[in-house]
Order: sequence, then structure tokens, then C-alpha cells
Amino acid sequence: PITREFTSGLPKAELHVHIEGTLEPDLKLKLAQRNHIDIGQQNVEEVQKTYDYDDLASFLAVYYPAMDVLQKEQDFYDLAFAYLQRAAANNVRHVEMFFDPQAHTSRGIAFETVLHGLHRAIVDARALNIDAALIMCFLRDFTSESARQTLIEALPYKDQLVGVGLDSDEHNNPPLKFARQFADAAAAGLHLTAHADIDQKDSIEHIRQALEIIGVERLDHGTNIVEDPDLVDFVSKNQIGLTSCPLSNAFISPEMKGKEVLELLAKGVKVSIHSDDPAYFGGYIADNYYAIASKFDLTKEQVVQLAKNSFESSWISKEQKALYL
Ligand code: ADE
Ligand code: ZN
Repeated sequence: PITREFTSGLPKAELHVHIEGTLEPDLKLKLAQRNHIDIGQQNVEEVQKTYDYDDLASFLAVYYPAMDVLQKEQDFYDLAFAYLQRAAANNVRHVEMFFDPQAHTSRGIAFETVLHGLHRAIVDARALNIDAALIMCFLRDFTSESARQTLIEALPYKDQLVGVGLDSDEHNNPPLKFARQFADAAAAGLHLTAHADIDQKDSIEHIRQALEIIGVERLDHGTNIVEDPDLVDFVSKNQIGLTSCPLSNAFISPEMKGKEVLELLAKGVKVSIHSDDPAYFGGYIADNYYAIASKFDLTKEQVVQLAKNSFESSWISKEQKALYL
């Protein structure tokens, strides 16, 4: 059987982690104190008691307010550096991390404060033998006008970004709402991905839009795609990566989409395993590999293939991929 030592030693790429979702209770408390913010809890246990959710909306209702403690550039630095240290210790070699600028600019934090803090942590983490890049997400429950303004703010710094994504509340917020912003981002040379959270209303239609109209290169979650064989063919032919997050899925669906992941893997689809919001869903990337491997009795070959898929569907150069594969 697959052991925790195996999943943590396995070289891997992390392609689906929200950096704000790596905010551990102890750092949350430390930043609250540093910034003189009353978050209503005094210790780690009290913070953890607030982690009560069973679907995307109830999770996001806990997740966004917690970001109030992130105020200064150094706070964003500390957040990202702590994550990268942890990732490096679990043999993550490459990270493409999401960040949500609008979750911060909407409460008066400058875009530059966020970006500079995260970027500086990425630069410093190179000394830990981990390389990382940023994917800027549009919040899909905000207007497309807000996304447009966010992209305008970001474009002067496009060299510090690898791509754009789409996250937050999917309900009645289809990818098509942001077609223009995705097209503009692609024209600026950025890669494209979008969340298609599991078991959402209009899941298949959202996946179809993301693939056929937006032209995403990856789908985040997206495992509902097994309901539509034509779309499975499409991702297979076009080598679109699907980034599945078992421990995050477990909050919504006890089977954590394990069967779907195995079906996609058997069909040669580039599905891979990631952590989503590890501080909120009970585990980092190696724990996510372990969770699916143990529950579904994966073979070593299947686990290694998942890790290979993570490098193959990453946005590193062919030459760099050759080093890892
Ligand atoms: N933001 C953080 N995690 C997310 C997820 N799983 N889906 C949508 N938005 C998110
Ligand atoms: Zn996510």
C-alpha cells in the first residue's frame, strides 16, 4: 500500500492551491495581533470551531472574512513564504498558486501590496529549491467590469504572473460572463484556467463554455466532466489538465470524486492531485495524494502517473519539464 512517506517524497507540482487558503489558524492569530484586528477568536481551537461548512457557499462565507488579517505587504509575504517552506519540505518542486486580488482590493488593500508581498516570497523561496508562479483569479461573483479593472491593474506586472483563473461562487456565474477578460489576458500572453467546482448547478454547461468558448488550458476540479463523453474526448485530445482536490471535495461529496479521477486516469486524461485550501480542508498536497490513494487503493504506478500529470499540465517550459519527468 501507498504510505505517507511515499506521497510526501514523491516529486510533484502543485497547480491548484489558493494562497489565501493556506492561512493557518496560528498565522491568522499572529497577523490579527500584529494588525490590531479583532477576529473574535483568541486561540487555534476557537478559530478551528469556525471552520464549519459543507458546500462551496458556506465555505466561502468563512474564507473571505478571514482574509481581513492580511493588511500589509509583509503579511502577504509571510503567508506565501510559510506555504512555500511547507511545500518544499514535501518535495513540491513547482507551484502555480492562485491569488484573489479582488478579495483584497475590495477592502481597500492596494493591488501592489498583495502582488509585491507574494512575489517577494516566491523569489526568496528559490533558495529552498522550489520554483513558483502566480495565477491571478477573477472572482466570478463580482462583475465583469470589476474583472476588467483588475486586469488593467495587473497588466503592468504581467511578467510576475503566469496565468489567470476563475474562482469563488460558481452559482449563476458562468465562465462566459468573463469571456472578454480571458481573451484580453490571453492576448497579453497569459495562460488560462477556470474552476468548475464539483456538483454545481450547470456544471457541464460551465465546463463546455470554459473549454470551447474561453479556451482554458486546464480545468480546476472539473471531474464532473465524466458525465459527458464528448467533453472527455475533448480534454483527452487537447491534453487539458484537470486539477482535482480530494480533501476539499470530501466536504461536499464523501467519495471525493475518486471514481471519476480513476476513470479519467484510465482514459489517459491529464488529471492530477492538489490541495485547494489546505488550511481549511485538513491537509496539504501529500495528504491529498494519501487520502485518495488509501481510500481507493491506488497502485504505485497510478500515484506516479498523477504526479507526472502534474508536471505535464503545468506551465513550465518543455526543457524544464524534461528535468522533472
Ligand atoms: N476559492 C478558494 N477555494 C475555492 C474553490 N474550491 N472553489 C471556488 N473558489 C474558491
Ligand atoms: Zn480551488
